[in-house]
Amino acid sequence: MKKNKIIVEIRKPKLSDAKALKGLINNKELLKQLCDYPYPCPLKRMEKDVEDGIKGWKTKKSFSFTILVDGEIAGSIILENPSKDKGRYDLGFFVGRKFWSKGIATEAIKQIVKFGFDKLKLYRIQADNDSDNLASGRAMERAGFKLEGVLKKIQKKKTKFIDLHMWGITK
Ligand SMILES: CC(C)(COP(=O)(O)OP(=O)(O)OC[C@H]1O[C@@H](n2cnc3c(N)ncnc32)[C@H](O)[C@@H]1OP(=O)(O)O)[C@@H](O)C(=O)NCCC(=O)NCCS
Repeated sequence: MKKNKIIVEIRKPKLSDAKALKGLINNKELLKQLCDYPYPCPLKRMEKDVEDGIKGWKTKKSFSFTILVDGEIAGSIILENPSKDKGRYDLGFFVGRKFWSKGIATEAIKQIVKFGFDKLKLYRIQADNDSDNLASGRAMERAGFKLEGVLKKIQKKKTKFIDLHMWGITK
């Protein structure tokens, strides 16, 4: 029997998303790549992030979305740090561990890029990732981003120096 296709959607965040997002982010493997968050991440911290995300829509400082998979909260994705002319934003995202490797980040990235170019009329979206974060790079690549550069040995992670990969997509 053919397996039903999963439905990935992105929608504006609600404060009530914080509890599920906190549950997803409290995973050591995931947080290895998201060093802005403490482990464990308290609910208050996630509520603050979601509140900031909701405010961001009003000020155009950021545009964040909650990622849903078949209606269940699966992660978060954001356009943030706008350029002065608000034509360029940085991309950030995470997907909960149990949802990995199903093409969910790839699909969410495609949707936020479409929103950025069609609705916000952006000319560029960019992101950087640690060179050891292969899943993140691959998801961006599959969503149409190009690897534009490599900053060699930019930071130390434990005992090893790692490179930073710069990714971008233009209208
Ligand atoms: C990065 C992240 C969002 C990917 O989410 P995802 O929904 O699993 O991504 P996708 O399934 O769309 O794509 C991942 C791709 O990487 C591949 N991949 C996964 N783990 C990999 C690994 N260790 N090495 C190489 N490729 C890997 C997958 O096979 C898939 O490629 P494919 O479709 O060609 O097979 C998720 O791992 C995550 O939240 N990580 C922690 C937070 C993070 O790193 N955020 C990005 C910061 S820049």
